[in-house]
Amino acid sequence: MNVGGTVRVPGDKSITHRALMLAATLRGDSILRGVLTAADTRSTAACLRALGVVVGPLRLGADVRIRGRTWRRPQRTLHCGNSGTTARLLLGFLAASRFPVRLSGDASLRRRPMRRVTDPLGAMGATVVTERGDGLPLRVRGGALHAIEWTLPVATAQVKSALLFAGVRAGVAVTVHEPGRSRDHTERLLAALGAPIRRRALSVSLDAAPGWLADCPPLDLTVPGDASSAAFLIAVALLAEAGELRIEGVGVNPTRTGYLDVLARMGGAVTRETLREVAGEPVGDLVVRPAPLVGTTVTSEEIPSLIDEVPVLAVLASRAEGESVFHDVGELRVKESDRLGLLAANLRNVGVHAEVVGNDLHVVGTDRPPRGIVDTAHDHRLTMAFAVLSSLPGAAVELSERRSAGVSFPKFFEVLERMTSH
Ligand code: S3P
Repeated sequence: MNVGGTVRVPGDKSITHRALMLAATLRGDSILRGVLTAADTRSTAACLRALGVVVGPLRLGADVRIRGRTWRRPQRTLHCGNSGTTARLLLGFLAASRFPVRLSGDASLRRRPMRRVTDPLGAMGATVVTERGDGLPLRVRGGALHAIEWTLPVATAQVKSALLFAGVRAGVAVTVHEPGRSRDHTERLLAALGAPIRRRALSVSLDAAPGWLADCPPLDLTVPGDASSAAFLIAVALLAEAGELRIEGVGVNPTRTGYLDVLARMGGAVTRETLREVAGEPVGDLVVRPAPLVGTTVTSEEIPSLIDEVPVLAVLASRAEGESVFHDVGELRVKESDRLGLLAANLRNVGVHAEVVGNDLHVVGTDRPPRGIVDTAHDHRLTMAFAVLSSLPGAAVELSERRSAGVSFPKFFEVLERMTSH
């Protein structure tokens, strides 16, 4: 199979969620360009509309206008669909709203832990009542929040961001310490808007700034291409027999591109060209050529910067020479599916030796064509990772479904088809 052409990936999912929510709290008309128009970000837009905010339609290629305002009590439960980021980030904003809101989501999201965010928001003064264990559905009622200093047991940008957004909205000081460096889009966005935010290696502090949000002008922002979506296309290009793929306008924020460092170690160096900055985020064009890969060890320190790329890296490791080990990836058990267990099981289903040992994932590379059935569990990143395998010559990989790719990359299969028909 050959690869070729110039493609673009959809807008960054993390930045789109953050920009939509922040714009919804600012006075005036914000305009967002290049937003991700996928199921997850549509969930955020729908929740914001239910809170009384005017959010224009999220249509591929179209700018989105948002008229921010004081949020009002929604008439119904806010449905976050499959999107953990929608639920957790919104909780941060809602912690500072003085009305009760019920949040829920699909079956996958209802299984995901929320206490990691509701505990610190409770400590700030919000009231949260869960209906069932640690997850959704739950009710939140905001209050008069106070300052907080919180140490996260796991590096998670969603919780860090929820606390920062609660602090911004309530005008109170927030300090968050984390054990590893999770993605920093919230910090960059707030800094670009002039919020009083200070950053150290593994901590971030927001000073108390009552009224800052009310004075902040609306957003005019361009969202870069999603580095996590680019990873799947890069993987296909690395495994191709010949050709060159260029992916334009991809976010290369170092808290997201740990996978590019790992790929370089595996022999699959990706070139970054025309580096520039867009709204406080580094952006570049990525150029990829096929390369033989060797196995590697991914350390626990590297995991936060590639947390969403473990599935596609594991799939690539199955085509590399030798064994690869991903250390401390236990967090994958609480993603859109039990990604850790399913990754190993599905790799085995297609003839690869893979196993979970404690919180580590071991994958042994092979050059036997992958053959077998993959249970995606409707998890978009598993679907796209295993679709990479099905692009190999001689492969007979049957995905249990393909629709879930639309959670973060609506035209994924069309793009794949286009770049491999050279
Ligand atoms: C995200 C953070 C990560 C990531 C998710 C998006 C974000 O989750 O897996 O896809 O936008 O902040 P955690 O913060 O739970 O690691």
